[in-house]
Amino acid sequence: MTRIRKAVFPVAGLGTRFLPATKAMPKEMLTVVDRPVIQHVVDEAREAGIEHFVFVTGRNKSVIEDHFDKQVELEATLTERSKSAELAELAASLPGPGQTSYTRQQAPLGLGHAVWCAREIVGNEPFALLLPDMVMQDTPGCLKQMLDAHAGLEAPANLIATEEVAEDRTHQYGIVAVGEDVGDAFRVTGMVEKPAPGTAPSNLIISGRYILQPEIFDLLARQQAGAGGEIQLTDAMIQLAERQPFYGYRFGGRSFDCGSKIGFLSANVALALARDDIAPEFRDALKDLLKN
Ligand code: G1P
Repeated sequence: MTRIRKAVFPVAGLGTRFLPATKAMPKEMLTVVDRPVIQHVVDEAREAGIEHFVFVTGRNKSVIEDHFDKQVELEATLTERSKSAELAELAASLPGPGQTSYTRQQAPLGLGHAVWCAREIVGNEPFALLLPDMVMQDTPGCLKQMLDAHAGLEAPANLIATEEVAEDRTHQYGIVAVGEDVGDAFRVTGMVEKPAPGTAPSNLIISGRYILQPEIFDLLARQQAGAGGEIQLTDAMIQLAERQPFYGYRFGGRSFDCGSKIGFLSANVALALARDDIAPEFRDALKDLLKN
């Protein structure tokens, strides 16, 4: 069984759908309840046993690096004031020394290009890829479920999370064609990035969690621009699937596309309702609002 030690987080996107909020602040730092979107996704990876967190950043994203670093002055002040709960919270969300790497995608050439930028840091081993736009809610988390399923597949296997969406939304995502079930997964027999309305091979979307073999990097290096004029990860995965076993995992939990306003707002509501410390009061506040 191959252990998956590293996870890649592409965080170079511009966040134009959230202007003006994202004019000076990265979209990954928008808050869902009381932590930034990116922290929810990093926490999911950590829960799954990931030991090294690779961020593909861009201009104006250095606050993400600061977020995953120690804040010495803040910690000193909290210690002085005996704020042990806050200190513990900060410590829990901090990757250990040497467990983070940052590289920059120098131009917005697409998700495939962003992933390729991580090739030297990932090296020649299978890795996880988590798109920070997607916040997943389930116990255990989506990546942990996938790693368990992946462990049961014959190596070297690629595995991507999928979930159903309404037919009229398939054109916004990568879509898989579904083959036979194998263990907790199914064989992926085809993929298409952002199919024209009415042409999708299924209503199962590629939902932003991947376990990929390192051979993807050579394919990405040669990948031409595809949908939207961008270098698409999905196009390179289509070629990888011709060479290696490629599976889909049906994620049964909830997921929120925090790249859209409705997804982001829904994530805030759902995650707040799942918090024992907030839910009772928040539920009353929501009921009040919905009355009118
Ligand atoms: C990317 C992927 C797509 C996937 C989606 C999930 O698209 O290319 O296959 O379905 O993320 O959010 P993007 O959202 O970057 O357009």
